[in-house]
Amino acid sequence: MSRERWSSRSIFILAAIGSAVGLGNTWRFPGQAYQNGGGAFLIPYFIALVTAGIPLLIMEIAIGKKFQAGAPTAFRKLGKKKGFEWLGWWPLATSFAIVAYYCIVMSWTFNYLWHSLTLAWTKSSSADFFYGDVLRLSDSPGNLGGLNMPLVIGLVLTWIFIWFSIRNGVKSMGKIVKWTVPLPIILLIILVIRALTLPGAIDGINYYLTPQWDRLKDINVWAAAYGQIFFSLSVLFGIMVAYASFLPKDSDVPTNSMIIAFADCLLSFVAGFAVFGTLGFLQQTSGTAIADMSITGPGLAFVTYPEAIAQLPGGLWIQVVFAFLFFLMLLTLGIDSAFSIVEGIVTGLVDKFGWDKKKTVAGMCFVGFAAGLIFATNAGLYWLDIVDNWVNNFNLILIGVFECVVVGWIYSAKKLRNEFNEDSNMKFGPWWDFMIKYVTPLSLLGLNILFLIDSFKANYEGYATKHLLIGGWGIVLATIVFGFVFTTLKGKDLEEEVN
Ligand code: PHE
Repeated sequence: MSRERWSSRSIFILAAIGSAVGLGNTWRFPGQAYQNGGGAFLIPYFIALVTAGIPLLIMEIAIGKKFQAGAPTAFRKLGKKKGFEWLGWWPLATSFAIVAYYCIVMSWTFNYLWHSLTLAWTKSSSADFFYGDVLRLSDSPGNLGGLNMPLVIGLVLTWIFIWFSIRNGVKSMGKIVKWTVPLPIILLIILVIRALTLPGAIDGINYYLTPQWDRLKDINVWAAAYGQIFFSLSVLFGIMVAYASFLPKDSDVPTNSMIIAFADCLLSFVAGFAVFGTLGFLQQTSGTAIADMSITGPGLAFVTYPEAIAQLPGGLWIQVVFAFLFFLMLLTLGIDSAFSIVEGIVTGLVDKFGWDKKKTVAGMCFVGFAAGLIFATNAGLYWLDIVDNWVNNFNLILIGVFECVVVGWIYSAKKLRNEFNEDSNMKFGPWWDFMIKYVTPLSLLGLNILFLIDSFKANYEGYATKHLLIGGWGIVLATIVFGFVFTTLKGKDLEEEVN
């Protein structure tokens, strides 16, 4: 059977941008910049982009295109025999953990879309509304309580949306991304203009862009920059391998990769103006200094930003409209990132086992939904926090080290570069090999060591050791075991090759 194909090169680029541009651009990036030196953060961020983000993006797209298969089959073919297949399953298992919690954030967004019609958070404080009314947060990860029904409903809607988007493979995805990529960008531009024309906005922008140079001495600032780049570009998850496997064999890898990386970083930078302009305004109306607001993670999108919206000039209608547009933006931003993960996993399964794609999509959506229920309990936010930290800041980084060693040293970076250069207008020089063989893996290894040291120094966020063992190290171990087990299972792809 011939492989599915993107209907055009621009649809592939759009889909890859859809995966890369997500919640990570709108609140993760501005939050990281704020915490890690303001304008000075742009320097490690840019260096991380050049030394690791772009080389890895090119590598994953090149592998997917060359082997015309999802990550597990591609890594097997790359190593000959069954050798490196586990290096395909391991990131897929990891991304499964991510999509499980990414979808609960989408569920919160669905709930807020509904609440924005009445600006429900203005009845109490916006923080009480989020942690109390919406999350019903318990006092510890061990205290799960029951299922939180509105969140379960949001989760169901999210998974139906995902299923709908990818049910017919790249064909339906191609149609969806024509909406879910441009729409949030337009909404973002509207929000940026609104933010920049608010009184006090300029103080917020100054806060965002004023470099605190001395922060560059702090190694953690560098770690944050690398972490942000991987999360934002969706590399190391096997997604880009799967997406590129639907490209024709003579596609231009470097140029496509550069467009994707550039679009993603630009949107992060622009989103910062919407966020910080609004924070400057909030500082003026509420009297709370920006430094004392909760800027990272869910706090920014679900507490601080809604609060600012409730203060917008122009009356209730204007506020409702902006609240609705904001959550619609988050929803459309997140959905194509979420379904890219599922597509990455489905492609891996279908390529190895020859399963029916439609059924595999439906099955995965159900399993993903079921796994996500843990995050719909009263302790959901705690588990999200723990899993997110271990998976992104440790597991993925370790995967990156292995990918670089296998591709750079065993397969040969030079060979892969010569292959992708052949079909490209933009030729990459030997510096790419140097990155993949030395700079990228060594910087990743450094991050891993840093993480280990930190996790022995103190329990992350003060959680109990047993909870960290389950949600942190337990998940890491589970993804590795999963990787090996799936490698040993008998697939259809090997048979085909023999014939
Ligand atoms: N890149 C997405 C973002 O910035 C998140 C994401 C992570 C998507 C992992 C796919 C895989 O929000």
